[in-house]
Amino acid sequence: MKTSYKYLLMAAALGLAACQQESEDKVDTAQAAAAQEAESVKDQAEEKAEQPAKEVKVSSRIDEHSYGNLNEVQLQHLDLDLTVNFEEKELQGHVDISFKRLKDDVTRLDLDTRDIDIEKSQIWSNDTWQDTTFELAEKDPVLGSKLSIALDDKTTKVRVFYNTQPQASGLQWLTPEQTAGKEHPFVYSQAQAIHARSFIPIQDSPSVRVTYNANLKTPKELLAVMSAFNEPDTELDGDYHFEMPQAIPPYLIALGVGHLEFKPMSDRTGVYAEPSLLDASVAEFEDTEEMVKVTEEMYGPYRWGRYDLLILPPSFPFGGMENPRLSFITPTVIAGDKSLVNLIAHELAHSWSGNLVTNATWRDFWLNEGFTSYVENRIMEELYGEKRAVMEKALAVQDLRHEVKELPKHYTVLNVNLEGNDPDDAFSGVPYVKGQMFLVYLEKKFGRDVFDEFLVDYFNNHAFQSLTTQEFEKYLKENLLDKHPGVVSMEQVTTWLHEPMLPEMMPNPTSDAFTTINSETQSWLADEARLDDLGTDEWTVHEWLHFINNLPEDLAQERMKQLDETFGLTDSTNNEIAHAWLLLSLKAGYDAVMPRLETYLVSIGRRKLIVPLYKQLMETEEGAVFAKRVYDIARAGYHPLAQGTLDEIVNK
Ligand code: BES
Ligand code: ZN
Repeated sequence: MKTSYKYLLMAAALGLAACQQESEDKVDTAQAAAAQEAESVKDQAEEKAEQPAKEVKVSSRIDEHSYGNLNEVQLQHLDLDLTVNFEEKELQGHVDISFKRLKDDVTRLDLDTRDIDIEKSQIWSNDTWQDTTFELAEKDPVLGSKLSIALDDKTTKVRVFYNTQPQASGLQWLTPEQTAGKEHPFVYSQAQAIHARSFIPIQDSPSVRVTYNANLKTPKELLAVMSAFNEPDTELDGDYHFEMPQAIPPYLIALGVGHLEFKPMSDRTGVYAEPSLLDASVAEFEDTEEMVKVTEEMYGPYRWGRYDLLILPPSFPFGGMENPRLSFITPTVIAGDKSLVNLIAHELAHSWSGNLVTNATWRDFWLNEGFTSYVENRIMEELYGEKRAVMEKALAVQDLRHEVKELPKHYTVLNVNLEGNDPDDAFSGVPYVKGQMFLVYLEKKFGRDVFDEFLVDYFNNHAFQSLTTQEFEKYLKENLLDKHPGVVSMEQVTTWLHEPMLPEMMPNPTSDAFTTINSETQSWLADEARLDDLGTDEWTVHEWLHFINNLPEDLAQERMKQLDETFGLTDSTNNEIAHAWLLLSLKAGYDAVMPRLETYLVSIGRRKLIVPLYKQLMETEEGAVFAKRVYDIARAGYHPLAQGTLDEIVNK
C-alpha cells in the first residue's frame, strides 16, 4: 500500500504521461485504504501507538491532512446547533451530519477533531436518535484526534454533542478591550487550512463539500454572522438561523459574533463592522459592487447571492479570508484612500478560484491562491488601470524574489510536498505569486482572449468541485496546450509546477513609474539631487512602498532622519508604508522608530505585518530584548495562529 502511494507521488511528479496510470492507481489505493479501514478502531489505535507519528501521516488517505474515511462515507449536509458561551470561551451544542454511504460494509464514520470535548454520539435509526459508541484517538500534534463513530448498517445521519475548548486553534475569543468599541466581547473563526476540526467534528478535507444550516445562540445584544445567507436586516435577539445551500469545503465554514452593525453598499453588497468602523469601511470599500461586476464580465456569473464584508478586530491574523458570501477582512487595510483594496479584489476573486473550484488537498493550494492572485490583479487593472495593476504585480514579484532565497527549497515548488507537515508551515508567497506568474506566463503565450476563454471554461467545468494539480495539468493539456500546439510544452508546465525556485521563463513585470523612482533614488543617494526633487507629491502608496523597499539597508542615520523629517514616515497611518519603513529602520539601526514600533506591534495582529518585524528584531541582542518585552505585552491580544508563529521566533 505504501509503495502504491509512493508510486502515485512519482506519477504525479512525472506529469501527464503518468496520468492514466495515476487514476488507476488511485482506485487501487482507495481499495487498499478501504481494506485497512476495515480493521477495528482499536487495532488502529494500537498500530498508531507503535509507530512514529510520521509513519501514520503518510498513508493511503486521499488527503494526508484528514483522518476522515473519505472512501467510505461522503458527507453531505450539516445542521449545527450551538450556543456561543463567552464566559467559558466555548461553543456548546451539537452537530447533525448527514452522509452518503459509498460502500455496503461501512461500520463507522471517521472524523477530524482537535481539542474538542465529545459528550455523546447518536445515530438516526428507525426514526429516532439512538446512542452509539465513539472513540477519540490520541492527539497527533498536526492532525488532532481522529473521532470514530460506530454506525449500524443503514444509518445516514449521526449527531455529535460536543463543546470546543478555549484554546481552539480555529477560534479567537476577544475580550471587550480587544475590540474597537471596548464594551462587548467578540469571537470569530478562521478554519483554513485545517482548523475547522477545532470547532466542528468533521471530515476536514478540502476535497469534501457540505451544505449547512446553523442555529447560533448568543448574548442578546450581539449579532452573529456566518459564511451563509445573512439577512441584511436581522433582528438583534441572540437567536440566529443560517442556511448555506451551496456545498462548500469545511475550511470555508465560518462564524463571527460581536457588537456588529450592517450597512449596505449596493443591492447585493454590504459591510458588517463594529459601529465605530462602519462608515470608514463603507467609504473604503464602496467599489466592491463594481468589482463583482467586472469579475462577472470577465469570468462568468457570481454564483453565491450576496457578497458582504465582515470587518474584524485588528488581531485578525490575515489580510482577508474568502468565507463564501461574507469575506472576513482586516481593519488594517482601511487606509482612507482605497490604496489597499486589492485585498477585497483578492477575497472576491476566491468566489471563482477557491470557493467554486477548490484545491483538492493542501498540496494543491497554489490552485486556490495562484489563480486568485491572477484574477485579483485583473480586477485591479479593470477598475483602477494598468499602471496600478503593474505596480502591484511588480511589488509582489520583488517580495517573492527575496522570499525564495530564505525558504527551504522544497517549499518553493508549486505542487508542494507537505509530507508530515502542517499546511500552515508551507505558507509563503510561492503559491500566490509564483502561481500568479505561471498564469501570467500562459496569458502572454496564448494571448489574453484565448486564456480568458480557457479560464471561463475551467471555472464552469469544475464548478463546486475540488481538483488536484495533476487533474489541472491534464485539463490544461487537453484544453489549452493541445488546442494551440507549439506554444507551450508540457515540459515547461512541469518546470513551473514541480521544480523548485523561480524559472528563467518567469515574467518580470516592470513598472515605468518604478523605473523613474529607481533613477531618482540613485541621484539622491549620489547627492546629485535633493529630496524635494523626487516627485513624491504625485506618489501613490505603491510608489512609496517601492521606494522604501529598495533603499539600501545600511542607509546612513542622517539620511533616515532626513527622510523621516521630510515625509513623516514613522507616523504614516498607512499600515503597509509603516511596516516597510519600520522594517528598514530596524535594518538601518534608526532607533527613533522604536516607540512607534511598539505601538504598531501591540495594536496589530496581522501576521504578514508583524512577523517580519519580530524576525528582524531577533537579529540583534538589543532587538531581541525589545522583541521579548513587547511580545510579552502583545501576545495575549494575538490570534492563536499568530501566537504559534511568534512563539517560535521570539522564544527560540
Ligand atoms: N485564503 C487566504 C488566507 C489564508 C491562507 C488563511 C492560508 C489560512 C491559510 C486569503 O485569501 C489570502 O490569501 N489573504 C491574503 C490576501 C492578500 C494576498 C491580498 C492575506 O491575508 O494577506
Ligand atoms: Zn487568497
